[in-house]
Amino acid sequence: MRVNGEPATGTPGPGQCLRTFLRAGGWAGVKKGCDSGDCGACTVHVDGVPVHSCVYPAMRAVGRDVTTIEGLAQFHPQGRHLQESFLAAQAFQCGFCTPGMIMTVAALTDEQRADLPRALKGNICRCTGYGAIRDALAGVARIERDGHGSGDSSASPVGRAVPAPAGPDVVTGRARYTLDTGDADSPPADVPLLHMRLLRSPHAHAWIRSIDASAALARPGVVAVLTYQDSPPGLFSTGRHHDPDDDPYDTMVLDRVVRFQGQRVAAVIADQVATADQALEEIRVDYELRPAVTTPADAMAPGAPQLHAQAEGNIATRVHRQAGDVERGFAAASEVFEATFNTQRVQHVALETHATIGWLAGSPREGEAPGVPPRLVLRTSTQVPFLTRDAICALFCLGQDQVRVVAKRVGGGFGGKQEMLTEDIVALAVLATGQPVQLEFTREEEFTAATTRHPMAVTVKAGARRDGTLTALQLTTVADTGAYGNHAGGVLFHACEEAVSAYRCHSKKVDAISVYTNTVPAGAFRGYGMSQSGFAVESALDELSRRLGIDPAEFRRRNLIQPGEAPDNGSGPDAGVSTTGHGAFGALEAVEKALASGRGEAAPYGAAWRTGSGLAVTMLDTIPPGGHVAHARVAEVADGGFRLFVGTPEFGNGTATVHQQIAAAALGCSPERVEVVASDTDLCGHDTGAYGSTGTVVAGTATLRAALALAELRKSGDDTKPREAEGSCDGTARSVTFCAHGFRVAVNVRSGAIRILQSVQAVDAGTVINPVQLRGQVEGAVAQALGAALFEEVQVDAGGRVTTRVLRDYHVPVHADLPGTQVLAVPGHDALGPLGAKPMSEAPFNPVAPALANAVRDATGVRVYCLPMRPDALLATFLEVEADGATGAERLRQGGGPPGPGGPRGCSRRWRRAAGLERVHVAVGRPSGGESGRRQLPRAADRLAEEQGLRPGQGAWRRRRAGGVRPGARVVLRDLASTDHAGAGRDRGVRLVADRHGRVLLRAVG
Ligand code: FES
Ligand code: FES
Repeated sequence: MRVNGEPATGTPGPGQCLRTFLRAGGWAGVKKGCDSGDCGACTVHVDGVPVHSCVYPAMRAVGRDVTTIEGLAQFHPQGRHLQESFLAAQAFQCGFCTPGMIMTVAALTDEQRADLPRALKGNICRCTGYGAIRDALAGVARIERDGHGSGDSSASPVGRAVPAPAGPDVVTGRARYTLDTGDADSPPADVPLLHMRLLRSPHAHAWIRSIDASAALARPGVVAVLTYQDSPPGLFSTGRHHDPDDDPYDTMVLDRVVRFQGQRVAAVIADQVATADQALEEIRVDYELRPAVTTPADAMAPGAPQLHAQAEGNIATRVHRQAGDVERGFAAASEVFEATFNTQRVQHVALETHATIGWLAGSPREGEAPGVPPRLVLRTSTQVPFLTRDAICALFCLGQDQVRVVAKRVGGGFGGKQEMLTEDIVALAVLATGQPVQLEFTREEEFTAATTRHPMAVTVKAGARRDGTLTALQLTTVADTGAYGNHAGGVLFHACEEAVSAYRCHSKKVDAISVYTNTVPAGAFRGYGMSQSGFAVESALDELSRRLGIDPAEFRRRNLIQPGEAPDNGSGPDAGVSTTGHGAFGALEAVEKALASGRGEAAPYGAAWRTGSGLAVTMLDTIPPGGHVAHARVAEVADGGFRLFVGTPEFGNGTATVHQQIAAAALGCSPERVEVVASDTDLCGHDTGAYGSTGTVVAGTATLRAALALAELRKSGDDTKPREAEGSCDGTARSVTFCAHGFRVAVNVRSGAIRILQSVQAVDAGTVINPVQLRGQVEGAVAQALGAALFEEVQVDAGGRVTTRVLRDYHVPVHADLPGTQVLAVPGHDALGPLGAKPMSEAPFNPVAPALANAVRDATGVRVYCLPMRPDALLATFLEVEADGATGAERLRQGGGPPGPGGPRGCSRRWRRAAGLERVHVAVGRPSGGESGRRQLPRAADRLAEEQGLRPGQGAWRRRRAGGVRPGARVVLRDLASTDHAGAGRDRGVRLVADRHGRVLLRAVG
């Protein structure tokens, strides 16, 4: 085999995939995002043909020419040009998908390029929303051409589309992520690297009587097996916060009690991953099973087993707030609307999974006497290196100078890497063995053992006078925090904060609880509780305005807080947040104008399609309460440039670029004269971390202060030696930002398909420091939010087992699923942010789901109470409404809506059961070996029959063909592949739906 023109070193092992072989040979541009050919991050060319190297046997490549991203410019005629196009369009954020994406694109024919939704269906990007990738292929440049190091210091760097400094490395595969070792921050080459694999509990709740690891330990290559007997005794939380007491101390490195299926039970450390995997099978665990509770209702029921000693009734945390008198407020209302809105478990699916390599290195300080113990170094995929270091120090009784945590480029985080999920167990293994140890989560572990968004049931009651003035707003929220309380408090706090504070109303009340259940833990996720309550409140207010006959945008205009007005969430009039000069009204107006402009796609032809539009507005406090600290240092370097040391990591959020620009603005130089050194606890001052949208406003303020201080120093004369200065920010000056999103949609009331005709988001971003980064963040957030609104859901069965275990069962949006989104920045200047900037990484996520639900309501008259809005769920809702008779059908046509505030409609099967709609059934026939949709129908029908209590072989499809379908049944077969955003470009198999009246609808997708 030749790789990039060179003979490959080594021989492929039995069963070894090409990706593993190439990475072992040093071709780190070949990325690992899954193990099942679903994400495309590992794409390489074999004899010019693109393949997913994770499912391509390395042996098959013997005697062939393999090209990776590192060799593309040399061995493909379009290679260099493509890489430059990706750079010019900044078609990446974290960049982890980029090598695979470029390799796929390089192999496309002209015909395939003309059909990108189909051509790119095998490549997932979780960050960009694909808009910038589309631009790259169209030759559109998003950056300023002179942003490539023109050295022009006369132009202010602020407001310019400056390219990301890591861009050239990202597009050529040179960018180093956590496991791409070989650079200076790597374990010693002369000590063998060991690999860890984790044994995970098959039970949702159990006590470990004993563990017998003798057979595993006897296996050649196994170095150690760690169990609860090796665990440090201390409790901690995997959630990392500025104040560690924000989260309950309820977790151990290895606990004797297991509280969810997937919890760590033992760790095997071996010379090879395969050896460790085999040894896992040989560990015998004697469990004493305990009753499990897998829903908040069960967990709070009298007599329910208690998961944690300190949490009576399994309540992890609660929030109560009150202002005024809501009962009087509702009595004064002309119209009151009340309903419960349910949101689902969603996974971050950062393409780089959680990973850590740890080792022992050197002595604490140069020149110290021998005998000083070596230091623990953790190279890890984290958003919070300093908080991770502090937690490791506390757990293992080490001083801060004995631990170094360094994050290289992080392949996406979205809040999922604000958890300590790998570092603690790797630290334990390194300290136990004295050797370097590596742990990398599989994609399955991301679903079964990492964290999710908190599922919530939010009951909103809102009342208003006839003129639209809100008289009372009440929220009752139940959140499911899963088996552990990481982020339970913070997420619940924000779920009760911004969505309520955004509106003026004298009578408000919030009662919220977060409940422990024996399910995979929830945690931090972009939006941090605000997306769940935002969906509920923005849907409820939309419905209230329609019932009052007031335009939904006008209703919001009458009730949103005014600039300068103190937000009130019921905890008191002053939440320590400034609303001066907020841009909510400008954002609302911009979306209204855009929706009225007639831009976007035309409505599809056909009697079943209904069109409508909807919008939503959400608020975000720019910094979390309680402090968020950043220190920055800027130093002159010998070549006349500057080096900026700042602790916050870059994981695709664009902070490195923005920090460069902020420092350059203060120092009067061009951005490329500033080199950024980030996220290393040895080199940088303390930084709380990259979460809570703080990278620009907190670390950026520290950067600005350090750079201004250096600029002052430089004026003072002495230039005989390099000068440096420091700056810091404690994150206490907080303001607010608003985002408004609008959709125009067409909804097919006979299939449940939603087609997005227009998508627009207006953002109150203050001074835009880098328009291309801003656009990338907004497009990416909208894409992620659309996935959560339309189809993403981590399924958990009644026993608490996560049944979503591979990417193809989860449906991360691919190119074909997403519309283009118009991004509008409302002019503004924040008095508190650096150079007037506001954060924009989480905020754009929050208004998307309610805006889409409001558009569906406008189009069909049907209110969506549950996410995701999958076609089968929507269809079931439409059938329910229509089943009310002619008036129901008429309502669908006329937009009158279902009677009263319904229970959960348009929900997953679990919720439909909860609502008593037991006779709505859904079955899916999975494709195998390129089967056509029609060949999968019998299998789907059999599953449906089984659910309905029929014998296999008597499924609805066959019964219909045999004339056995019950009276009134009908069959509709639809191929939605080219008509809906939900299914396009994906081979999803056949989905078959039967309603409670025995009518059967068949839907074939793909
Ligand atoms: S890593 Fe090969 S397709 Fe995901
Ligand atoms: S840039 Fe595509 S996954 Fe991050």
